[in-house]
Amino acid sequence: MSLFTVDENTCTRCGACVEECPPRIIAMNDAGRAPVPVKGAGLLCINCFHCVAVCPHGSLSHKNASPGACPPVRREWLLSPEQAAHFLRSRRSIRTYRDTPVEKESIAKLIDIARYAPSGHNSQPVEWMVVYDTQKVRLLADVVIDWMRWMGDTHPAIAKQSHMDMALKRWEGGLDAIFRGAPHVALCHAPKENMMAQSAATIALAYLELAAPSFGLGACWAGYFHAASMFWPPMVEALGLPEGHVNLGALMLGYPKHRYHRLPPRNEPRIIWR
Ligand SMILES: Cc1cc2nc3c(=O)[nH]c(=O)nc-3n(C[C@H](O)[C@H](O)[C@H](O)COP(=O)(O)O)c2cc1C
Repeated sequence: MSLFTVDENTCTRCGACVEECPPRIIAMNDAGRAPVPVKGAGLLCINCFHCVAVCPHGSLSHKNASPGACPPVRREWLLSPEQAAHFLRSRRSIRTYRDTPVEKESIAKLIDIARYAPSGHNSQPVEWMVVYDTQKVRLLADVVIDWMRWMGDTHPAIAKQSHMDMALKRWEGGLDAIFRGAPHVALCHAPKENMMAQSAATIALAYLELAAPSFGLGACWAGYFHAASMFWPPMVEALGLPEGHVNLGALMLGYPKHRYHRLPPRNEPRIIWR
């Protein structure tokens, strides 16, 4: 089966598919007909389906994705620069949560959105673990606290620099500085040796965090938990990720208790123009 087929009745030979294909495996047919795959294209194709998505006439059908599998872009839903700035600026790290659990379906939908995040060579290496059971989230917080105590004893400078002393103090005073009382935690994982997975996971988590408010949800990066899962064997054991996989980043997740009313300022950008 050919890698893709082109409807010669509708193709205008505009060349968009040829130019946009990342590995450049589409050639304009010299005989003045529709574009064709180059020799060996099947081995180089990264299944990004840009060829299908960029065709203005729906003329190109990839063997793994027809135009029907790629919904049209709804221009009226795209953001203006002001809307994009407002949307991104209004994202907040949420640190107080209602006790109400989030429906599994909403979390699954968020992860479904996050899978559209970019990844090197479109490799989509990210896998997810949702610690849905709030009791388990609390147990993981205990393990982070054990790690912090150990860090305080053995690496006091690093512990202090990362404010673990303060987090411990708050914990001892009954405040959860690890997961902020969030009912759920979502983390990304992938095989340790996958060089592209870290950036892909970070972006996927950012997608999830950005999409969360549209479900009425709030999120916050769980940095202490992530660090503990990289360095503390009891946490590795408690998580039970698939063999050889590492935690690449995590978000607390739940219904926010408060709503933000203003957009706080941030530092001016530092830019070197060349
Ligand atoms: C990698 C990373 C790790 C973070 N870890 C934590 C954390 O463990 N606990 C927490 O309350 N906030 C954590 N945060 C949230 C930051 O403190 C927050 O992004 C920052 O204060 C700015 O606030 P904003 O996200 O609302 O703009 C983390 C953020 C990032 C990007």
